[in-house]
Amino acid sequence: MQSKNPEDIKHVIYISRPTHFDHIVLEDILQTSRSNNPQNGITGNLIYHSDLFLQILEGPPKAINNLYSKILSDSRHNDIIKLRDSEFPKRLFASWAMKNDGYQSWMLSRHEINKFNADEALSLFDKLARETDQFLS
Ligand SMILES: Cc1cc2nc3c(=O)[nH]c(=O)nc-3n(C[C@H](O)[C@H](O)[C@H](O)COP(=O)(O)O)c2cc1C
Repeated sequence: MQSKNPEDIKHVIYISRPTHFDHIVLEDILQTSRSNNPQNGITGNLIYHSDLFLQILEGPPKAINNLYSKILSDSRHNDIIKLRDSEFPKRLFASWAMKNDGYQSWMLSRHEINKFNADEALSLFDKLARETDQFLS
């Protein structure tokens, strides 16, 4: 699902707080994502925890902007803070319509992640993408 033109890719990363967290909510979000994202050229990763969603969306800018506005008005979460919104020449999760990673033991607290700048947010997902690659190879 790699874009032919690397300049056409952008990343949005945000953190939010689930209004009511359980596995039914999570499965529903993942199912919708995996059904919608491929047709819009979107890939990404969703980290979840009882008090945290942390998501990277990557794909064509227009498709990402449309999806992000839908996500902003989704009542299943609140306290949404965008950490990164910028073009980037490559996807970190090119083969995932929406990967889902649980909370990683090395991850910082929600409070600390809230204060991440754009590059720090990207580094976190870069680390996860590398771990996935290692696991696959
Ligand atoms: C944390 C979170 C992440 C989401 N991620 C995606 C996503 O990657 N793709 C998607 O289509 N919808 C995602 N959604 C759901 C959207 O907010 C929205 O409900 C959905 O896109 C509507 O799909 P529909 O137009 O097919 O009904 C997410 C919702 C939440 C709360």
